[in-house]
Amino acid sequence: MRIFSGIRPTGGLHIGNYLGAMKQWIALQDTNECVFCIVDLHAITTPYDPKELQKNILETTAVYLAAGINPDKSVIFVQSTVKEHAELAWLLGTITPMGELSRMTQFKDKSKQHKDYVNAGLFTYPVLMAADILLYKSQGVPVGIDQQQHVELARTIAKKFNQKFEKIFPEPETILPKTGAKIMSLTDPKRKMSKSDDPKSCISLFDTPEQITKKIMSATTDSGKDITYNITKKPGISNLLTIYSLLTDRSVQDIQKDFEKKTYSEFKKSLAEVVINYLEPFRRKQKELQTRDVYVKDILEKGANRAKIIAETTMKEVREKMGLA
Ligand code: AMP
Ligand code: TRP
Repeated sequence: MRIFSGIRPTGGLHIGNYLGAMKQWIALQDTNECVFCIVDLHAITTPYDPKELQKNILETTAVYLAAGINPDKSVIFVQSTVKEHAELAWLLGTITPMGELSRMTQFKDKSKQHKDYVNAGLFTYPVLMAADILLYKSQGVPVGIDQQQHVELARTIAKKFNQKFEKIFPEPETILPKTGAKIMSLTDPKRKMSKSDDPKSCISLFDTPEQITKKIMSATTDSGKDITYNITKKPGISNLLTIYSLLTDRSVQDIQKDFEKKTYSEFKKSLAEVVINYLEPFRRKQKELQTRDVYVKDILEKGANRAKIIAETTMKEVREKMGLA
């Protein structure tokens, strides 16, 4: 299967990004043809610092590599270096109903969050995302649950193109993790963990052991004393149990048993240790890659060259079917 996914290089990727999206990528790359993109054109639809963007791109690439994405197997590249993304986005925009775009919850959320930055790019963001996916004729899109609506729109756009012109696109499907599709904030477990929130609410993949311990020990828990999974009554503890389970590959029931007569504080201490140990290789690899910009840039260049071959072929076909060539 051809797989496509991407993450915005907005700095400070967190364990929600990792558990919701990237962890699946690693598993998928063994048996599928995977294309993983650093979506800089999407990143600029919300406020950003142009001076930081290149640094964030390299840092996000380092995260991909540190997490275990193998550049010999999977294609890793930066969206803006393959011009066909922007071109296809324009063409697909001409068959995307405005009504569909107005329904997108991310647009509604982000335009509330950045009231003085509601630009047309933010509105047509899902069209560019559809172009990303369809350019590679991708069949599977591994993402967290917040992106499901966008993948469904990509499917609608693919169907429309196939009906209006000629059937050339597969209808892409969302691939969600069984658990972890929505990791919640540490300070407000009713909201999703997000890098634009309070730093205390979110564990970055490169937090130091001290930062991790501090954040987990002060994470919001619930009334009562038991360490049991119950999303409605105990959203805080349930979120921590989910993270514990995903990072140790053990079932929540098993972990609950371990902590049957233990306190919240004992549980949190143990979780902090789990997170610190899990993220240790990320910190190490990140440090190592920071001194190897040339190597990282070389991976991106090779990735872009591989991506271009597929992208150019699809665009040629699209232009022909749409009467532009
Ligand atoms: P973004 O940082 O918005 O570019 O997101 C990159 C990927 O991480 C997407 O597939 C998101 O669905 C996923 N993601 C972001 N936040 C979370 C979260 N709190 N829990 C699970 N997945 C998430
Ligand atoms: N919109 C996605 C996010 O915010 C990132 C993204 C851009 C993406 N293009 C994509 C994800 C294509 C999957 C497929 O997380």
